[in-house]
Amino acid sequence: MKKIQIKLITILSLFTLAILGCAKESTAKTMKDNMKSDMMKDGMMTKKTLVVYYSLTGTTEKVAEMIKEKLGADILKIEPEKEYDTSSVSKLEALVKKQMANKEKVAIKKINKDISEYDTIIIGTPAWFSEVALPVQTYLSEQNLSNKKVAVFTTYGGTYGNLLTNFEKNVKAKQIKKGIAFSGKQVKEGIDKELNAWIETLK
Ligand SMILES: Cc1cc2nc3c(=O)[nH]c(=O)nc-3n(C[C@H](O)[C@H](O)[C@H](O)COP(=O)(O)O)c2cc1C
Repeated sequence: MKKIQIKLITILSLFTLAILGCAKESTAKTMKDNMKSDMMKDGMMTKKTLVVYYSLTGTTEKVAEMIKEKLGADILKIEPEKEYDTSSVSKLEALVKKQMANKEKVAIKKINKDISEYDTIIIGTPAWFSEVALPVQTYLSEQNLSNKKVAVFTTYGGTYGNLLTNFEKNVKAKQIKKGIAFSGKQVKEGIDKELNAWIETLK
């Protein structure tokens, strides 16, 4: 009889301990979630950066990857539904010119990135006739950046005209930082120093 009583007490104690353990774990989780949500509200946890770019021939991509590495940022590549054919430059230019003249919204692949967790969005684009490349224009038209710090960089062949200032004027953001442009030649030769200095201005 005494043995049974001891066994029962042991089982009951173990059961109580298990329940207490679960309750403690779930309380800790709730407390952690509440803290996280409070910190989000206070803007303490939204210091993440996302680099969003489009690149047809790899130059903008190279810069985007460098920024990603330097900032420990996340990265997102914009991809058109129908990638541009680069086999004929004249045909490619004619197509883009026509799309721009018609103010076409070039279709892009579905974006599976929720930007709500990011504080800063860095947009990377090649210069296309001194404008933001069309796939990037589509992305911008589909996103709400009004509560973000935003900066732009562009890569170009010869001249990028007013691309940076137009972007800075037209994009609705919480804060727009001064953008930067690199020629393809500069990117090839190395832009480490310039990039580091620019990144400092974003902080
Ligand atoms: C359709 C088209 C238009 C372009 N327009 C310009 C331009 O106006 N000015 C310029 O300097 N380079 C221009 N370029 C060259 C690209 O901006 C440059 O090569 C850029 O670095 C390419 O970036 P990516 O390799 O990331 O695509 C143009 C290229 C294309 C395909």
